[in-house]
Amino acid sequence: MSTDTNADTDADAESTSNCGASSSESTSEASTDRSSSCGASSGSDDSSSSKCGASSNSSSSSSCGASSSDDDSSNEKEVGSTVDDFDADPGKLSAVGLGPGHPEGMTDRAKSALLEAEHIVGYTTYIDLIPDEITEEADELYDTPMCGEVSRTEEAIDRALAGNDVAIVGSGDPNVYALGGLALEILESKGATASMVDFEAVPGVPAAQSCAARLGAPLVNDTVSISLSDHLVPMPEIESRLHSAAKESFTITIYNPWSRKRRENFEKACEILLAHRDEDTPVGIVHGAGREDEQVMITELGELEELGEDEIIDMTTTIVVGNEDTYVWDDRMVTPRGYETKYDY
Ligand SMILES: C[S@@+](CC[C@H](N)C(=O)[O-])C[C@H]1O[C@@H](n2cnc3c(N)ncnc32)[C@H](O)[C@@H]1O
Repeated sequence: MSTDTNADTDADAESTSNCGASSSESTSEASTDRSSSCGASSGSDDSSSSKCGASSNSSSSSSCGASSSDDDSSNEKEVGSTVDDFDADPGKLSAVGLGPGHPEGMTDRAKSALLEAEHIVGYTTYIDLIPDEITEEADELYDTPMCGEVSRTEEAIDRALAGNDVAIVGSGDPNVYALGGLALEILESKGATASMVDFEAVPGVPAAQSCAARLGAPLVNDTVSISLSDHLVPMPEIESRLHSAAKESFTITIYNPWSRKRRENFEKACEILLAHRDEDTPVGIVHGAGREDEQVMITELGELEELGEDEIIDMTTTIVVGNEDTYVWDDRMVTPRGYETKYDY
């Protein structure tokens, strides 16, 4: 049976799984010890040298960001401080995509962006994915357990507004169901102009591509990605998007496929896909691409719903549903691009 302890958590992924619940990952000794907050006593000799916190009244806050809670169930909506609360020249803010999870899967640019950052901010699991030789170079690491993506992003922004060069990290790419957009939205809501902070989105390999690579070549034609997380998008809207994608000839990648609380979303998704596609449509399932617990399976659409209860499908899984041309050849999922219609080979 799947559990949610591995829930992958950028943006909308995390909150409906077990936000607010104690996570085994979040209490690891390493991550707890490293975690430091701006203005809070961190036990780090360096803490006094970091430029944290707004100039005015945020000193009593345990973090740079003045948002109150790191629990997503609070529906964090308030921005705690505005740009006017900071005297410093803003530092650089980078949203860095770590790729699938192993160091070789990180781009060189991502590694150098992290090495350039004075502070690295992220969900504990992602901070743990960064090689030690990189985290050791940072002045401060700020990691929080599952959920709290808004307060965590605001923390990163406030640290940058306070004059630090900050990297906020996430899996895959910062533009794929991730925090890149949220960072810019929060900056805007704090009264910043787009040019006030030197913001860079540093691309990483998205899960769809990492997972496709494990399956063969299933994504070489038109593709649609759909997240089954109804944390930010209501389920009826997700259903409507799935219908549209499934009745066209797109390959479909499904993010955030299953959690205990989303079991019904997954079942509904399988039902919709089967309404438009044959039962024997090839489906690739990749759990934890590039991570120690990676699992890969190629099956058929008619079998998918039952696999929802299997450990291969959880919140660290991406599912690739083939189009009508996709076939399986020797354990490889192949979606023709169309060359065969123009060339003899
Ligand atoms: C909030 S999204 C983040 C996506 C990420 N920004 C990206 O570019 O891949 C989290 C979802 O990405 C997928 N995912 C992330 N890492 C994965 C991995 N290593 N293997 C398989 N799927 C992964 C899962 O579907 C998970 O629920």
